[in-house]
Amino acid sequence: QSPEVGRLLEAHELSAKLYHFLLKNTEHGKEAMDYLRSRGINDKMIDQFQIGYAPNRWDTLVQFLEKRGFDLGEMEKGGLLSARQEGSGYVDRFRDRVMFPIANRNGQVIAFAGRIMGEGQPKYLNSPESRLFNKSRTLYNLNLAKTSIRKLRQSVLFEGYGDVISAWEAGVQNGVASMGTSLTENHALMLKGICDEVIICYDGDSAGQAAAMKSLPILEQAGLHVKIAVISGGLDPDDFIRRHGSDRFVHGVIESAVSPVKFKLIYLKKNHILLEEDGRISYSREALKIIAPLASPTEREVYLRELASEVKVDYETLKQECNLMRQSMLKKQQVGDNNDNSWNNGRHKKVRVPAPNLLPA
Ligand code: GTP
Ligand code: MN
Ligand code: MN
Ligand code: MN
Ligand code: MN
Repeated sequence: QSPEVGRLLEAHELSAKLYHFLLKNTEHGKEAMDYLRSRGINDKMIDQFQIGYAPNRWDTLVQFLEKRGFDLGEMEKGGLLSARQEGSGYVDRFRDRVMFPIANRNGQVIAFAGRIMGEGQPKYLNSPESRLFNKSRTLYNLNLAKTSIRKLRQSVLFEGYGDVISAWEAGVQNGVASMGTSLTENHALMLKGICDEVIICYDGDSAGQAAAMKSLPILEQAGLHVKIAVISGGLDPDDFIRRHGSDRFVHGVIESAVSPVKFKLIYLKKNHILLEEDGRISYSREALKIIAPLASPTEREVYLRELASEVKVDYETLKQECNLMRQSMLKKQQVGDNNDNSWNNGRHKKVRVPAPNLLPA
């Protein structure tokens, strides 16, 4: 570790403590405190996640860091300060925002996310990437969650800070978030190092569901078993917990997470109008592409029967079409073994099961 990195780590730790103190103990922090309360974040959560407040001033951190002998240019490169637009000198990067410290897996603060209170852009202002902070290698809350993740051999992947914090309070303490950036292979490998299964629990809106479709193969390619927790009504996990409570979140959402195949079918169905013949035909064609490669005849039958009733087609007809599709996939070797992860899984692409095992039952 270079001396510069050491100084930046120290500055981040001190800044997090300052923001936390200002939130809890000063007049400046009162409005932020009210904001957090209105979001259902209590004192215990504020302490646990060391939430803070950056006052509406240009020089809170400038003064604080200068007094302690830090080089302000270095602090600017580290993302705590900004260079003045005109003239020389520095100003605070974060002003009038609720501050969420972002730690590395050892619990050292390496960045901040600052949320505006109420409307405005950007909603979250993050630290820029720096010597300390690489977004694609950082998972929010991994420092606190890693114990639980190791113990359960499972983690829950959220979209946002608020989701992680509310879930923690609801008893889900193996939650992490990739903080707005898309999930990377690196993130997946970090999780693979400490668990076997990941439950994706993204926002219930269409953006969240599309993001889940994107994260799914990344996690599977890292060799993780994946399930998807789907939230109905467009709420995000944080909203859901506040509206429906912890119990319904744990039992109705997390423990009801579905398999990738099931999720793909649900996702597909949302994009087709089943009231129309065209919609039912194209939905059925796309669904068969998901069902046909499944190695287990039982699994295929379960999904086919469900599909049959959804598209109002006889089960035998669908089965016939499914088997035809399966045969042609077998010829093209697009069908895998009993692990339904593996047939479209990049890492396992070259591993082929001998053809006789794959013939449709
Ligand atoms: P709340 O409105 O505070 O509940 O935030 P949220 O986490 O529900 O936000 P949203 O679902 O809109 O976005 C999910 C995640 O994307 C956030 O937690 C952030 O990490 C990130 N994000 C959202 N808005 C912004 C933004 O304006 N800038 C940046 N850098 N990231 C954002
Ligand atoms: Mn505290
Ligand atoms: Mn969202
Ligand atoms: Mn959200
Ligand atoms: Mn939210």
